[in-house]
Amino acid sequence: MKAAWYQKNGPADAVLVVGDLPTPKPGPGEVLVRVHASGVNPSDVKSRQGLRSPIAYPRIIPHSDGAGIIEAVGSGVDSERVGERVWLWNAQWQRPMGTAAQYCALPASQAVALPGEIDFPAGACLGIPAMTAHACLFSDGPIKGRWVLVTGGAGAVGNAAIELARWGGAHVIATASGTAKMGLARTAGADVVVNYRTEDVVTRVKEATKGKGVDRIVEVEFGGNLETSLNCLTTNGVIAAYASSAQPEPPLPFYRMMFAGLSVRLVLVYILADAAREAAIRDINAAMESDAFSPHIDSTHPLAEIAAAHARVESGHAMGNVVVTIE
Ligand SMILES: NC(=O)c1ccc[n+]([C@@H]2O[C@H](COP(=O)([O-])OP(=O)(O)OC[C@H]3O[C@@H](n4cnc5c(N)ncnc54)[C@H](OP(=O)(O)O)[C@@H]3O)[C@@H](O)[C@H]2O)c1
Repeated sequence: MKAAWYQKNGPADAVLVVGDLPTPKPGPGEVLVRVHASGVNPSDVKSRQGLRSPIAYPRIIPHSDGAGIIEAVGSGVDSERVGERVWLWNAQWQRPMGTAAQYCALPASQAVALPGEIDFPAGACLGIPAMTAHACLFSDGPIKGRWVLVTGGAGAVGNAAIELARWGGAHVIATASGTAKMGLARTAGADVVVNYRTEDVVTRVKEATKGKGVDRIVEVEFGGNLETSLNCLTTNGVIAAYASSAQPEPPLPFYRMMFAGLSVRLVLVYILADAAREAAIRDINAAMESDAFSPHIDSTHPLAEIAAAHARVESGHAMGNVVVTIE
């Protein structure tokens, strides 16, 4: 099969190789998926760079997200699933063989039915971005009629969070920088969009919520935005954070937060509890089927140009998801 892989950490164009590898066979409880689209996420890029830990396998086919068609099943898996269109999650989480290849064998539960009208590139944007957004939004009770602040509303996770929050019946305020990113956040359905680099976010949030503040924050920069977040939240509000790159070890003002009854939820999408995972899968498919959610794709790149796809994610200029297509 055609595949991309790396055998050491380093820059994308130096370590990513595209070539032929043996096609895997589905083991017991697994499905073999003919992959047509493979999502590139910041964590795939960080793993390739070796930012958090050195390479854990002799050879890694990168990417956890993907979409394609089940071509074969292992023992114990219903053969009726052959031919099913699916989206994949956690394909390369603690496993060496991800979705940047024509074939991927993985546990059957990690291949989820893709609604009929959704194409494969969109299906490759769900495992990490949409499930992270869902977990941040829905892990602390209903959001219908509540105010949600989504920071980084043009990001892959943030943009999905806006659409899923609207699907869930919330009012949404999004932050973004620059005209294009603000437009993308608005197109996704944000009621209010704030340029967090040029405007005062707290003032705009207080205006929109008539002084009350937001009930939830879906946060891309926990530490860097903490002071702003504390001033934006209403009593008993929740910050659901999935990254804190600028300030990884922020001091927490305990009593200030305690006297407002605030909660902090930290999400790592790879290890969602079963109930949260099942709810995310159910809701993401339902939102897509009702046209309420459609992942925004920044760019697609053929497998041969996977290094360019990684570079696009690393650039910080991507608006939404970066996808590798596989013929
Ligand atoms: N914990 C998890 O399970 C999980 C899951 C998915 C992703 N992540 C992590 O989350 C981060 C974002 O992922 P992504 O795929 O959404 O990346 P992305 O598509 O590159 O989006 C990141 C967005 O964050 C915005 N941003 C950066 N700093 C900001 C700030 N201080 N305030 C408001 N917005 C800010 C950027 O917009 P501007 O250019 O306007 O600043 C950009 O649009 C990455 O570090 C990734 O590794 C974690």
